[in-house]
Amino acid sequence: MLKNKKILVTGGAGYIGSHTVIQLLQAGLSVIVLDNLSNSRSEVIGRISKITGILPKLVVGDIRDRACLQKIFSEYSIDAVIHFAGLKAVGESAVDPLLYYDVNVSGSNILFQEMSRANVKNIVFSSSATVYGDPGFPCYHETTPLNPINVYGRTKLVVENILRDLRAADSAWNIALLRYFNPVGSHNSGMIGEDPLGVPNNLMPYIAQVAVGRREKLMVFGNDYPTPDGTGLRDYIHVEDLSIGHVSALDYLWKNGGLLTLNLGSGCPYSVLEMIDAFQKVSGRNIPFEITNRRPGDLSEYYADPRLAKQLLGWATKHDIYRMCEDTWRWQSNNPSGLTT
Ligand code: NAD
Ligand code: WQD
Repeated sequence: MLKNKKILVTGGAGYIGSHTVIQLLQAGLSVIVLDNLSNSRSEVIGRISKITGILPKLVVGDIRDRACLQKIFSEYSIDAVIHFAGLKAVGESAVDPLLYYDVNVSGSNILFQEMSRANVKNIVFSSSATVYGDPGFPCYHETTPLNPINVYGRTKLVVENILRDLRAADSAWNIALLRYFNPVGSHNSGMIGEDPLGVPNNLMPYIAQVAVGRREKLMVFGNDYPTPDGTGLRDYIHVEDLSIGHVSALDYLWKNGGLLTLNLGSGCPYSVLEMIDAFQKVSGRNIPFEITNRRPGDLSEYYADPRLAKQLLGWATKHDIYRMCEDTWRWQSNNPSGLTT
C-alpha cells in the first residue's frame, strides 16, 4: 500500500534520516530530501544512490523557509512527511536556547502550516526519550509522565504538543510521534554512518574515533553510578532497526490513521564499559579511556518499554550490541575522516 507513495524527508541527509531514506527507497517509495546541510554533507545522497541504485532528489533548504516549502509542496505531490530536521545537542541547547526554539519549534510549526496549506496531513516526527526527563524509575513506558530536564528535550515536547493539538483540532491529521532511545551503528555497507561535525557529543561516535586514531582517549563520565559496573546504562538501538521502525510507522498510519506515540528502543540497556568492551572485541583495537567526573544532567540508567511498538507495528529491534559495533567500525574504518575524504 505504501509503494510508490512520495515522502518528503526533512533532515534526510543527516544520520538517522539518511538511513531511513535507504529503507524507504528499498520499500519502493519515492523520496524528496529537504536539508540545509548544517550538520550533514551532500555527498551522503550519492552514497545512498550507490547503495540503492536510486538517486533521491535533494533540496538544499531550511524548514524555516516558507517559500522553499511552498515550492516543494507545489512541485511534488507529497503524500507524507518524515520530519528529522532539527538540532540535537543537549549542551548547546542550554547555551543557545533561542536557536533551539527557532529551529526545532518555529521550524516545525512553519513546516506544519505549509503541510496544512498543501493538505498533506500525514507525518512521522522524530521525538526523543529525552521528553520523559527523570521520572524516578529507569524503564519508560509511553504513558510515563513527560517532564524534560533540558532545553533540547523541551523543544521536542513542545513539538509533540503542537502535533497532539493539531490532531485534536482536525482528525484528518495522521501522526506518529517516535521516541528514540540511543541510536548507534551504521548501514552495513560501511558507506554511510554517523558523521558528526567537530567533537562528538555521544558515546559511540567518540569510541569509533578513538579506535580509528582520530582521538587519543575516551573520557568515561563517572563510574560511581548505582549500576553493576558503576557507569551509565543506556538503551542503544541500531540505526537500521530504527529506520525500519519509521517505515513500519508510516505503514501503520496508512492503514489505520490516528495518533501514534511509540518508544523505539530495545528494552535492553548496556553500560559504557560494556560498549567499550564490545567495540574492542569487534574492531581488534584498544580503546584507551579515563574515568572522569559525571557529565551534568546525565541519568544513571534508562531504557524503553518497547512492547507497544511490537504490539501495534509488529516491530522490534533485531541487531545486538556486537552488530552495532561491527557496523560502526566498518563505517569508521572505511571513512576515517567521515565523508570529507
Ligand atoms: P543529524 O544532525 O544527523 O540530522 C539532522 C539533519 O537535519 C541534518 O542533516 C541537518 O543538516 C538537518 N537540519 C538541521 N536544521 C535544519 C533546518 N533548519 N532545515 C533543514 N534541515 C536542517 O541528527 P540525527 O541524529 O539524524 O537526528 C535526526 C532527528 O532525530 C533529530 O530531530 C533529532 O533531534 C532526533 N533524535 C536524534 C537522536 C540521536 O541520538 N541521534 C535521538 C533522539 C531523537
Ligand atoms: C551515553 C552514555 C554518558 C560520551 C543523548 C541525548 C539524548 C538523545 C541521545 C537526542 C552516558 C556516557 C558519553 C562520552 C561517556 N539524543 N558517555 N563519554 O546522553 O544517553 O543521550 O543522545 O534526542 O537526548 O541526551 O547519550 O551517547 O551522550 O551517552 O562516558 O564521551 O555514555 O555519560 O552514560 P545520552 P550519549
